[in-house]
Order: sequence, then structure tokens, then C-alpha cells
Amino acid sequence: MKHKNMMKLMLALGIFLIFGTAQASETIGDKTSMCVGCHGIPGYKTAFPSAYSVPKLGGQHAEYLVKALEGYKNGSRSHPTMTALAKTLSQKDIEELAAYYAKNN
Ligand code: HEC
Repeated sequence: MKHKNMMKLMLALGIFLIFGTAQASETIGDKTSMCVGCHGIPGYKTAFPSAYSVPKLGGQHAEYLVKALEGYKNGSRSHPTMTALAKTLSQKDIEELAAYYAKNN
């Protein structure tokens, strides 16, 4: 009996942890999760379409990052992956991401 209750408690705790963290990160974490694969790795180079150094975002000026992302979105800048990605971002996403990266190195 006791053992069963313990299991229930563990299960509840597990569910809480999963949903708790998912919810906490829903704001900016959800969006940055699309970026960390490339921008989160120091010195990372993309393998496609060619070996290419990925610029560091952390610590750059927010206005610069907004301009860069808008550029990919409206075609004044071009890079296959970044253009495709920027098109999925809303203006609000762009501003939030820029603010986040400007603050976090
Ligand atoms: C598949 C890899 C990849 C992913 C995923 C990716 N990026 Fe990029 N990003 C790059 C590469 C490569 C460049 C450099 C392209 C160029 O020179 O135009 C770049 C450039 C940028 C720049 C311009 C930086 C500068 O100094 O010129 C910004 C801003 C940027 N990315 C933001 C983001 C954000 C925000 C996300 C997530 C929503 C993201 N990127 C996801 C590969 C990626």
C-alpha cells in the first residue's frame, strides 16, 4: 500500500516537472530552441549548404539583431536557412529574440 502511494507521488512529481519546465520556457525558450542548434555552439559551422561560420548572437545590439532578422525576412539579406527561419517569425518574435540575445552572451 505504502509503496503504491509513493509511486503515485513520484508520478505526480514527474508530471509536474515536465509541465512546470515546459511552461516556464514557453515564452522565449520555445523560440530560442530554434536557434541554439546553430547559434548556441561557439565556433560552429553549418554543413549545409556549405561549411559556413555561424555568427555569435549573444551580446550584439538588439537593434542590429532586429535589422538582421528583418533583412532575412524581407530579402535584403539572404542566407538559405536564416531566410526560411526569419519568414516564420513575427515582428514580436523578432523583437523578443533580439532583446533576449542582446542580454545573453
Ligand atoms: C541551421 C543553422 C541556423 C539556425 C537554426 C539559425 N541560424 Fe541564424 N544564422 C545562421 C548562419 C549560417 C548565419 C550567417 C548568415 C549570413 O552570413 O547571412 C546566421 C545569421 C544570423 C543573424 C545575423 C547575425 C550577424 O551578425 O549578421 C541573426 C540575427 C540570426 N542568425 C538569428 C537567428 C535566430 C534568432 C535564430 C532562431 C530563430 C536563428 N538565427 C537560427 C545559421 C542559423
